[in-house]
Amino acid sequence: MYTQAIDTDPQFVATQGAMRSVGATHASHDRLLASFDQRIANDEKIEAQDWMPAAYRKTLLRQISQHAHSEVVGMLPEGNWITRAPSLRRKAILLAKVQDEGGHGLYLYSAAETLGSSRAEMLDALLEGRAKYSSIFNYPTLTWADVGCIGWLVDGAAIMNQVPLCRCSYGPYARAMIRICKEESFHQRQGFELMLALCQGSEGQKQMAQEAFNRWWWPVLMMFGPPDADSVHSTQTMQWGIKRISNDNLRQQFLDATVPQAQLLGLSIPDSDLRYDDSSGHWQCGPIQWEEFWRVVQGDGPCNRERLNTRRIAHEEGAWVREAAQAYALKQAGQQAQALG
Ligand code: 3HC
Repeated sequence: MYTQAIDTDPQFVATQGAMRSVGATHASHDRLLASFDQRIANDEKIEAQDWMPAAYRKTLLRQISQHAHSEVVGMLPEGNWITRAPSLRRKAILLAKVQDEGGHGLYLYSAAETLGSSRAEMLDALLEGRAKYSSIFNYPTLTWADVGCIGWLVDGAAIMNQVPLCRCSYGPYARAMIRICKEESFHQRQGFELMLALCQGSEGQKQMAQEAFNRWWWPVLMMFGPPDADSVHSTQTMQWGIKRISNDNLRQQFLDATVPQAQLLGLSIPDSDLRYDDSSGHWQCGPIQWEEFWRVVQGDGPCNRERLNTRRIAHEEGAWVREAAQAYALKQAGQQAQALG
């Protein structure tokens, strides 16, 4: 009986079939989305093999790859001082730290690869100037005290931002962040200890510490990203449990933690508007120069060109290492295939 209703015109049949499958696709997409939203609401981890909305995948890829690039470009300002560290102890610490940053880049590229982009694609985006990395690494390291400021302030800010990322809804990113944060904690402490040594040293050393501090203070406050009102991604990434604390709240936490540390070091903070607000129990800083931040982000900071050029040269000069690793992997795969018969 039902068969009487079937239209046998081939074109009609094809159209009806397509419409049914689009309808079915919409229904199954809605079911998948509802289940994804429920898992986010339950604070469950999303894993690489799980279904996820395309926009969730895209924003994670954006954030994790930018983060990976930041770690790798972040090796350059400090790497500049490895040959000039003032003692063997300081050189060993700095070498270990810079090497850690390279390792962080590798964990993060691996986490990003689980989302479907290759490392080569991500690196091309960086080297062609299409991908962002943290604004902070476009400032120069003019004296040895800059190495202390990077550890104490930049790694201190990085920890503030990255500890909440250990609870990120995407499993591979969250797990990478746990290991990274442990290492960042050592980085921050070595930087503070370096600054303490300078601040307890000669007049010249104290002056060097103060001068470096003056240059890093504002760029570090900018590092947390634009004010919440101008942050294009925050609302969505917080709904998805990627970002857990907003840019402004993290900046505030950093300010509250760091002002007493600067006071302990005997450094004066280069902000005449800085004050402690008794009613809120928080430090309040003066206005941040956001034009400077956007200029640096858009490629016109003090060292943007130098940083990218250095990375490009390293990439070109490292081509033989990639080729050798690939040839070795092919050889191993061939031997394994032969052994399996
Ligand atoms: N530098 C460069 N670009 C920045 C930036 C910064 N400090 N802060 C924000 N931006 C960019 C964003 O990437 C975004 O651009 P896009 O749309 O092209 O991607 C735009 O400005 C608007 O900012 P939003 O606030 O909307 O962006 P997010 O919500 O992604 O927040 C973030 C920015 C807080 C940096 C966030 O992406 C994040 O937490 N990322 C992970 C941590 C990270 O990458 N840290 C970088 C430092 S790593 C480091 O310091 C290494 C350590 O070893 C020292």
